[in-house]
This record gives sequence, C-alpha cells and structure tokens, in this order.
Amino acid sequence: MMNLLKNLLAWVDERFPLTSTWKAHASEYYAPKNFNFWYFFGGLALLVLVIQIVSGIFLTMNYKPDALFAFASVEYIMRDVQLGWILRNIHSTGASMFFIVIYLHMFRGLMYGSYRKPRELLWIIGMIIYLALMGEAFMGYLLPWGQMSFWGAQVIVNLFSSVPFVGQDLAILIRGDFVVSDITLNRFFALHVVAIPLILVLIIVAHLVALHEVGSNNPDGIEIKKNKGPDGHPVDGIPFFPYMVVKDAVAAVAFLIVFVSVVFFAPDMGGYFLEYNNFVPANPMKTPEHIAPVWYFTPYYAILRAVPPLFGSQFPGVVAMGVATVIFFALPWLDRGQVKSIRYRGPIYKAFLASFVVSFVGLGYLGLMPATELYTWISRVLAVVYFAFFFLMPWYTKIDKCKPEPDRVTSK
Ligand code: HEM
Repeated sequence: MMNLLKNLLAWVDERFPLTSTWKAHASEYYAPKNFNFWYFFGGLALLVLVIQIVSGIFLTMNYKPDALFAFASVEYIMRDVQLGWILRNIHSTGASMFFIVIYLHMFRGLMYGSYRKPRELLWIIGMIIYLALMGEAFMGYLLPWGQMSFWGAQVIVNLFSSVPFVGQDLAILIRGDFVVSDITLNRFFALHVVAIPLILVLIIVAHLVALHEVGSNNPDGIEIKKNKGPDGHPVDGIPFFPYMVVKDAVAAVAFLIVFVSVVFFAPDMGGYFLEYNNFVPANPMKTPEHIAPVWYFTPYYAILRAVPPLFGSQFPGVVAMGVATVIFFALPWLDRGQVKSIRYRGPIYKAFLASFVVSFVGLGYLGLMPATELYTWISRVLAVVYFAFFFLMPWYTKIDKCKPEPDRVTSK
C-alpha cells in the first residue's frame, strides 16, 4: 500500500510540483519561533473566510435576490429550512468576527512594524483585502432587505452624490436607479456572491505568496533570515509544518468555541451583529429615526459626521472618511523609526499608538450613537487624535528614543 502511494506521488511529482510546493511552503518553510498570541489572526482570518464561503453557498440555495421576496426568503431560511437558522447565524456572526480578527491582525502589524521594509507590498495587498472586505460586507448587508439594509445603503450610496460635478451620476451608476431598488439589490447580490469573493480569494493568495517571499516578521521585529545555521535554515526559525500548524490549530479550536457560543446564544449580540431594525422589512416610505452602520464601519462614520458640511455639501466629511480609511496604505513610508517592534520603541511611539487605539474605539462607539452636539465635538477631538497618529508619524518616530534590538529573537 505504502509503495503504491509512493509511486503515485512520484507520478504526480513528475507532472506537477506537489512535493516541492509542500516543502517550500510548509514542511521546509521556516517561521520565527517566537510567534505569540498576535500571530494567530492571519490563520483565523483564513478560517473565517472558509466559514463565510461555505455558509454563503448554502444560504444562496434558499435566498431570493428580489425586492419582493428577499426579506421573506431570509425569514423562510430562519424558520422553515432545516438548520437554516444555524447557517444564517453562522454567516452573520462570521461577518462581525471577520472584522474583529482583521482589526486585531492589522493592529499586530502596527505593534511590530510588520508593514516596514521588506513587507511594504504584503501590507499594501493586505489593505486591498481590507477594502474589498468592506465592500463585501456593505453589499451583503443589503441582501436581507430590512429597514437598516435599505436605509444604510441609501445613506452610504448618497455620500457618493456629494462628489463635485460627477456625484449624481456616480450614485445612479452604483444604484442602477434613482433610489435603492430591486435593481440595486440584484447587482449587490451578484457582486457579493460572485465578484468580490473571487477577487478576495485571489488577493489573499497573493498576500500569502508575498508573505512567503519575504518571510514573517515577529514580536522582536528582527529579520531571522539574517542569521542562518550551517544547514542554511534560520537559527531562530522552525518549520511551519507541523509546529506552527499545531499551534494555529489550538487557536482555531479556542476561536471556534467563542464563535459557536455567539451563534447559539447571542447571534444578534445585543443589536451589534444583527441590528434590531433589520428585523423590520424595508420600507422606502419610512425613514428609521436613527440610522447607523454596523459596528465595524462606525469609526469612519463618526469621522464623516464630525466634519461640518461646506456650503451645504457633505463632501469634506466624505473626503475625511476616505482619507481615514486609505491612510494605512502610506504607513510603510510614514514610519521613520530605527526599530520595528514596539518592544524596542521609545515612549513617544507607544503613547501615539495607545491614543490611536483610544480614538479608533471611541469613534467606533460614537458612530453608533445619535449625533448630538456633545458627541459630535468629542468625535472631532478623537478624529484629530486619529489623524495625528499618521500625519505626525514621520516626526515622532524619528525623535523617539529607541532601545537597541537584540541579535537573536527573545522568548518573552
Ligand atoms: C482575509 C483577510 C486576510 C487573511 C486571510 C490574511 C492572512 C494572513 C496570514 C495567514 C498571515 C500569516 C500569519 C500571521 O502573521 O498572522 C498574514 C500575515 C500578514 N498580514 Fe494578513 N491576512 C488578511 C488581511 C490582512 C490585512 C487587512 C492586512 C493589513 C492591512 C494584512 C497584513 C499582514 C501582514 C503585514 C502580515 C505579516 C505580519 C508579520 O509577519 O508580522 N493582512 N496574513
């Protein structure tokens, strides 16, 4: 039997680089041995991606992308389709979990300077994934055709109409109609189910190819490739398979325990994962009193509302929101620090990173609240703190007093 399998593998290897690919990317791919908690989230993001694709395929079998039937078809899935409620809860929980995992994954990058040379392109590809993921979530949110689906899409697509000169046409192009309608629902469905997932999978593959080209960073922020042993492998690295796979598997189990707990016990998560107003069918004649996007968009939404309109146009707010999202692309060139990891950075970087986190979480909270005068002013202050992290970075990373980096990774 073993001989048969060996011969089969040899036959395949002559025609397809199976063993060599496995070696290059798993059994002989060396990852830093000091990976910590923060290095779990890339693998977990892959896990959530698979969960979303599989649950999405089964949901699509019973969902109807039609303004007359969409809401009812989701109710049908929840009440009549066997195990349909589990599938729907998995998919809606997966959307929020995806963003939790991705925000932690990105935060790790900020802590350990993972965006810096030679990983600039890896970071840029990551940012493209992030934008695609936002598009995917936004379009998916329209599909249940509830009040929040409808009015959330209406508000966000209307933002495009504030772009000078071409705004109105742009908004019509996106909607395919003068208001959010059945036509919009159909195109969002096509993009959510086919186009964006395809793009996501392709760029995630590119993300991993770029990662394996340069190798992982690590909590010490030093390059393990610079210190190789007589066997040609990094002395501070261990093979990805089996060691890291086993480690990631433990994290996956812990993560799944949390995931299914939400699915079974708190799928709406107090209105944060599934908003209460979305259990009411879309009604174009009745605007809900309070429209807020899902929590993962609210930091940017708060920035949008914090900027006062100019001559009645919301455009400055839209620009601020856009800049707040894409500014991450520039990080590799804004950071002038002598070291990568927060472990060896000085107090100034630590203070700026901490204030950035406070501003991001604070804006996220305020974006969920009604825009009272007090909240708007707090949002303004936090928006300034948010942008200061990026725009002042070339200055404060340069003057910060860093500690010397070690030659070898440490096992703190
Ligand atoms: C679906 C989305 C994503 C998936 C599946 C994914 C997957 C991964 C995996 C498996 C790793 C290696 C394990 C790890 O370091 O955690 C990784 C590393 C990395 N990812 Fe992602 N990623 C995603 C999104 C992003 C985003 C949005 C960014 C940033 C904007 C990003 C930036 C990075 C960086 C910089 C590294 C290297 C980190 C280091 O070595 O310190 N990724 N990613």
